[in-house]
Amino acid sequence: MGMNITKKILSTHLAAPSDMKPGEEILLKVDQTLTHDINAVMTYLAFEQVGLDRIRTECSVSYLDHNLLYLDNKTPDDHIYLQSVAKRYGVHVSRPGNGICHAVQVARFGAPGKLLMGGDSHTPHGGSIGMLCIGVGGMDVATAMTGVPMRLKMPQIIKVNLTGKLQPGCNAKEVILEMLRRVGIKGGLGKVFEYVGSGAATLSVSERASITNMGAEMGATTSIFPADERVREFLRAEKREEDFTEILPDEDAEYDGEMELNLSELVPLCACPHQPDNVIPLKDVEKKKVQQVFIGSCTNSSYSDIAKAALVFKDRHVNEDVSCTCAISSKQIYKLLMRDGYIDMLLDAGVRLLEIACGPCCAIGQSPATKGVAVRTSNRNFKGRAGNPTAEIYLVSPESAAATAITGTFASAEDILGSDLSVLAEVKEPTEFPVDDAMIIEPLPEEEAKKVEIVRGPNIQPLPIPDAPEQYLKAQISLKTVDNITTDDITPASAEFSSMRSNIPLMSQYCYHRYDPEFAARAKAMGKSIIIGGENYGQGSSREHAAINPMYLGVKMVVAKSIARIHKGNLINHGIIPMVFADPADYDKLDMLDELEVNGLLDQMKTREVEIKDLTKDISFKAKLELSDNELEVILSGGQLRHLQKQLKEMEE
Ligand code: F3S
Repeated sequence: MGMNITKKILSTHLAAPSDMKPGEEILLKVDQTLTHDINAVMTYLAFEQVGLDRIRTECSVSYLDHNLLYLDNKTPDDHIYLQSVAKRYGVHVSRPGNGICHAVQVARFGAPGKLLMGGDSHTPHGGSIGMLCIGVGGMDVATAMTGVPMRLKMPQIIKVNLTGKLQPGCNAKEVILEMLRRVGIKGGLGKVFEYVGSGAATLSVSERASITNMGAEMGATTSIFPADERVREFLRAEKREEDFTEILPDEDAEYDGEMELNLSELVPLCACPHQPDNVIPLKDVEKKKVQQVFIGSCTNSSYSDIAKAALVFKDRHVNEDVSCTCAISSKQIYKLLMRDGYIDMLLDAGVRLLEIACGPCCAIGQSPATKGVAVRTSNRNFKGRAGNPTAEIYLVSPESAAATAITGTFASAEDILGSDLSVLAEVKEPTEFPVDDAMIIEPLPEEEAKKVEIVRGPNIQPLPIPDAPEQYLKAQISLKTVDNITTDDITPASAEFSSMRSNIPLMSQYCYHRYDPEFAARAKAMGKSIIIGGENYGQGSSREHAAINPMYLGVKMVVAKSIARIHKGNLINHGIIPMVFADPADYDKLDMLDELEVNGLLDQMKTREVEIKDLTKDISFKAKLELSDNELEVILSGGQLRHLQKQLKEMEE
């Protein structure tokens, strides 16, 4: 049988032979890594502790792109540290103002057939050029940078056969919202979505990127498109045609599942609060008054996205009751939009142009008003994601966001421009980008790099390292959560909290503080504790602080109905044992403050089933450890850093 694209790429990166059966653990040699300023400090602090002189990947890039609001010393402290540590170890730096990590990675570093691990859940963005890109926690990025093979549970590969062609007024956002509507936020767990077919060939690289990027919201391992002529055109426009390799699925390629999606049938869609799979046709959304519109984010701020939004705005104005902002993905896109007159159209309409950065997408600025209705082109609409838990966030395409900003309530491009939308269809992706890498700092030669002094301002605090688990555990339940707890619930997004991320003693005081303001103090006072979670515990971003902060507060175990993939990996890396109820009904029997006890924990863990006694209720229940041998070893070592140090020592002996 022939091979699909995913298997072709995986097979060239296997560090140990494998027949790549779904569910089996495979070991992979990683080519590239990326980090961004919100999560990166922990990654590089971990890499420093490993004791290598230089990274062992082909190319690693540190992006300073998320938090560019220097409200106090914290973010500049982080940026200076990140820049100096990158110089020390041979990492590229993309300076503030160059662009959002995923857009720049695809434009300037990515190449078909490469394997990229990124410390951000939207890393699959790069699947748009036929590259296999997986979002992981920061500790995993540190591991990849050491050259030690990465473990991955072999995913199922799902073929998404695209037919037809997007109609004007419909954006690639509609494709991914339709996917979310069909499969839901857990529907991608353990899966790679491989988009092929005649419809895929009609989509530009930036349209493909909107789809692969937001595949993260389905919980997918990643998503990918073929490296075909469209990718060659894109790389040629980036003056990197030599990096192109054609990668198509074989004609008789085997898949583990198949879906059909006709692009011609799509209509403007909208993800309603508070989950990205709560998708309905935009025309059916209740016509509420909209207070805020944000056009931007890594998902939807390409040249064509912004140009189309600008054409909807042309000769019109933002409604007087709406605050409308726009953040463009990269310096090169900004310059092209300026050259072609689109920036003028936005300014004339009263759109507020923000810095080239993530910003509002992760609540760094532009919080909606109390109970405000916010319409965004970004990828997440969890409660509080915009910095205000009372707000409602709706996710739409840039065309629909522009129309909404004009009318002050939910509207599509057709509502503004009428049925002839040919003006939108005429927008084409650039055939030549203004390439200028002056904002990328190249690594120094190794000998020179060794002399670099790493600068640590007061916001850079040491990385806490967990203790290995012991045979006997007695601990109280410090928190019992509902279903679908997000990493935003555990460690909120916002400028204030983002800038605490290099300082765990400070940040941990705010752990869960919107969900349960007493949690941090309670957990700390308990010394050791256990969290009980519902379904899909830890969904959302790759933010490993959602594991580091509870670990620092003494949480030893999370027992949930189910745990989201990236978060589970982060718990393992930071020494918190992730378990799932053998019988989910046991969840209802437990209460916060109950005292739990486990005897022979280490021995029981090896059997993958642990009996836990609730001493308060005088009952017992069973919890399963859905861990590979490798993951178990990591947990038993006391987390990935200790495990990695051991592995490197063994390799050197
Ligand atoms: Fe940034 Fe939002 Fe994307 S925070 S990387 S624009 S998901």
